[in-house]
Amino acid sequence: MTILDGKQTAAQWRADITHRVHELAPLYGGRTPKLAAVIVGDDPASVTYVNLKQKACAECGIRSTVKRLPADSTQQQVREAVRRLNANSDIDGIIVQQPLPPHIDSKDLLLHISPKKDVDGFTPDNIGRMALGLDCMRAATPAGIVELLRRNGITTRGKRVAVIGRSNIVGRPMASMLLEKSEMGDATVTVCNSSTPDLKEILAGCEIIISAAGCPGLVQADMVAEGAVVVDVGTTRVADPSRRSGYRLAGDVDFDAVAPKCSYITPVPGGVGPMTIASLLHNTLTAFVRRRRRTL
Ligand code: GUN
Repeated sequence: MTILDGKQTAAQWRADITHRVHELAPLYGGRTPKLAAVIVGDDPASVTYVNLKQKACAECGIRSTVKRLPADSTQQQVREAVRRLNANSDIDGIIVQQPLPPHIDSKDLLLHISPKKDVDGFTPDNIGRMALGLDCMRAATPAGIVELLRRNGITTRGKRVAVIGRSNIVGRPMASMLLEKSEMGDATVTVCNSSTPDLKEILAGCEIIISAAGCPGLVQADMVAEGAVVVDVGTTRVADPSRRSGYRLAGDVDFDAVAPKCSYITPVPGGVGPMTIASLLHNTLTAFVRRRRRTL
């Protein structure tokens, strides 16, 4: 069994991105890419994620800024913040950190982010283009998972893959990518959800399992075939009084029981999380290059 070390793989990817940022800067008058994050309220996990994203940007030579809005902001105020970032020619990439307060309609906001700056790859334009196999900004977490597999020599062509979860952030775009006609696609994909009655039988018949359900302990050893590749996207905060923070991050997979059966498995934390951040940096660099090309 080999641990799919997202920390190490993401560090390699970030090194490639850093190299490219420094290589391109002199060609664009010393200018480097810039990411803007919008955060509404003070959800602790969101604040932590945005801080990690800013730190990763700085390490790669990508500039970043955070627009913090109060938790009681109106839909119109958040929309206006996004609109200003769309219009700001110094900004290459925009993310609106989720989850948003319950009174904010995140689907409506997606209609207002410029697809060219949508480095999360969440807008209808980018999701639709990806589903059609057109050039687009690819959804950051699934693209990070594909890169984690690719950089560790795991291909999906001809494999049976189960995706657990059908969220717009992970499950759906992940399934689309796995269906693409490429070495890192060409999979036979089953997308499962909380109503799937025979989850155990489906998972047991798959060479690759990607779980993004947000249910700690969902994937147990008797559900996983010998030699399977298991990618755990779950990051649920569970109370842990032994930690200074009072919580720990739990994946969907019962790691200790499942790992001995796997050929490869991601840990939580240190698996998919760092790859998502590297993917976001990659998309920001791509958005920067495409915008500059258009204005040259
Ligand atoms: N919340 C959880 N994952 C993500 C992500 O990839 N992007 C944004 N914007 N919010 C998230």
